[in-house]
Amino acid sequence: MALKLPPFKVPALSSLFSSSRMALGSRCVFSAAQCSSSSSSTALREGERPVPAGLSLGHLTRPDFPILYQEVNGSKLVYLDSAATSQKPTAVLKTMQDYYEGYNSNVHRSIHYLSTKATYEYELARKKVSDFINASDPSEIVFTRNATEAINLVACTWGLTNLKPGDEIVTTVAEHHSAIVPWQIVAQKTGAVLKFVGLDHDELVDLAQLRQMLSKNTKLVVVHHVSNVLGSILPIEDIAIWAHEVGAKVLVDACQSVPHMVVDVQALDADFLVASSHKMVGPTGIGFLYGKIELLSEMPPFLGGGEMISDVFLDHSTYAEPPLRFEAGTPAIAEAIGLGAAVDYLSGIRMEKIHEYEVEIANYLYGQLQSVPNIHIYGPKPSENITHLALCSFNVEKIHPTDIATILDQQHGVAIRSGHHCAQPLHRYLGISASARASLYFYSTREDVDNFIEALKDTITFFNSFK
Ligand SMILES: Cc1ncc(COP(=O)(O)O)c(C=O)c1O
Repeated sequence: MALKLPPFKVPALSSLFSSSRMALGSRCVFSAAQCSSSSSSTALREGERPVPAGLSLGHLTRPDFPILYQEVNGSKLVYLDSAATSQKPTAVLKTMQDYYEGYNSNVHRSIHYLSTKATYEYELARKKVSDFINASDPSEIVFTRNATEAINLVACTWGLTNLKPGDEIVTTVAEHHSAIVPWQIVAQKTGAVLKFVGLDHDELVDLAQLRQMLSKNTKLVVVHHVSNVLGSILPIEDIAIWAHEVGAKVLVDACQSVPHMVVDVQALDADFLVASSHKMVGPTGIGFLYGKIELLSEMPPFLGGGEMISDVFLDHSTYAEPPLRFEAGTPAIAEAIGLGAAVDYLSGIRMEKIHEYEVEIANYLYGQLQSVPNIHIYGPKPSENITHLALCSFNVEKIHPTDIATILDQQHGVAIRSGHHCAQPLHRYLGISASARASLYFYSTREDVDNFIEALKDTITFFNSFK
């Protein structure tokens, strides 16, 4: 049966691109009862979800993720692979279903009701993402397939246009492959040189070395905000100041920060920043590139086709302004709208609260893992000055991480990741070929950690019994 939609008044789409912040009002995705049953002492922002006393954020939000309530291989599922992809709350799934059942239509084309509604929701999602990371205008947000495509977009447009032989791209050994390989390709084509910063004694990116490496030859600095292996955070504000001092631009891989903490692109002064929806409770198939509008405006198109043009003649074409210049063809409409719902969901909890809870549960995970015999945990040890975010990569002496992951899954229903986590250079730098990784999110609980640790100890005993 077709979904009944409320009457829809056609908005002025141009207003969605205006630099003045449109008061669209972020929808509260939680029920009114939930929103008003607060026993929290701190004042709540409009639409914010309260955490009743005595209940952790993990316990409160879990019911929104029905996938977590299942048995895997005869055990209760313990999902500790959220850094690979997060689970999706019902609100996001419902929003996407509403689109398909109620107003499925192409965007930016037809003038009929369904298309106008779809276009409005698609552009509203852009506005939500823009507000979420505090961009100065929604036109600074380009929807891409994922973060990888967003980096490739910058590499193929800004990179190929601006880099020449002898120019330097400074990056780190701890980057995800998606932030290394596109620049290797661009360096081969342009004659630019890639330079890699190593780690210091705490297994943190060596900031002194990074600073020293910057020179007037540096044209771009490519850095992660949070490492998907080390769990460490980089001071992007400082890196941006140092890079800008030598006239370089900064591209921030924020895949592991945007889902877990407040990210403010203006405060960071990032020139480009990328993230993927599927790691922030949104659907797969969509991510975004943030770019300062003056940079996006000067960049040539990435792909050619419909949507990205202004005028097409037989011998040449002119192009649309950003962001549409970079969104050739029919976009991932349901996914963009789903990402908008994910942003609503996260904002309803509040990113500060998510971060605070995750730091607490990350410390718990780190502490519990340390109690496991013959374990080596990678990345900085959490302390007063050093935050280790809610993921831990580790190895247990003489047991392959994939063997550990296999037994955890098959005998205990615990889902972790093993392998190089798309960071082979980092693993080589650490002198290993693979590691195991347990990663949490705000819907994870201390019981998840306890179950994992118990299962890990059992698994180690199991393997040691063969020795
Ligand atoms: C730090 C980091 N960068 C980039 C990526 C690539 O994200 P995607 O595969 O969604 O493009 C990931 C995904 O694991 C990541 O963790």
